[in-house]
Amino acid sequence: MKFFVDTADVAEIRELNDNGLLDGVTTNPSLIMKSGRDYREVTKEICDIVDGPVSAEVTATDFDGMMKEAASLSEIADNICIKVPLTLDGLKACKALTDDGRLVNVTLCFSANQALLAAKAGATFISPFIGRLDDIHLDGMDLIREIRQIYDNYGFETEILAASVRTANHVKEAALIGADVVTVPPATLKSLVKHPLTDKGLEAFLADWAKTGQQIG
Ligand code: E4P
Repeated sequence: MKFFVDTADVAEIRELNDNGLLDGVTTNPSLIMKSGRDYREVTKEICDIVDGPVSAEVTATDFDGMMKEAASLSEIADNICIKVPLTLDGLKACKALTDDGRLVNVTLCFSANQALLAAKAGATFISPFIGRLDDIHLDGMDLIREIRQIYDNYGFETEILAASVRTANHVKEAALIGADVVTVPPATLKSLVKHPLTDKGLEAFLADWAKTGQQIG
């Protein structure tokens, strides 16, 4: 399973990348707004840190506008992945861009049929939003399960990028179902390492080691 981080916070991205945990990054207009940075400057900086795909989202809603913005975003770096919304124009742009050899992430997916359309449009990634479905009292994980089955039924190569991940349990469930990628906010990604018994065990080992008076190396 690939791990992407869902943020435009360069310090967080650098730290996670240095730990060898990152396969890519996803941003969106809200995350750019939160960063308080110029989108081009921050996106370029992120692309320089991470080798893998960095999703940058178009904000035009019509096909021509999306294609124009995609061309401009593509100039930022070779590892830019164009993020388009799951609309008819977005799917048309997805098809045109992937035919042209671009990486495309189709975002804001909330149904299996939407994911089926994105795969038919040749999407590199489909982003089903788990947390936002949970927010309206549906089970976001059911959507990941349905898309996995449909893609496997037909051998679609579009990668399932589980998005809107809010908890460590979301990551585990998505992995059990077989999502190809998960994009996770930095704090949640770091929380995956935590277990109280790990902390307690380490503390006990170090205390006993101190009693031996020895040092390694
Ligand atoms: C995915 O690419 C989106 O940026 C993100 O996962 C949205 O998450 P949210 O629902 O927590 O805003």
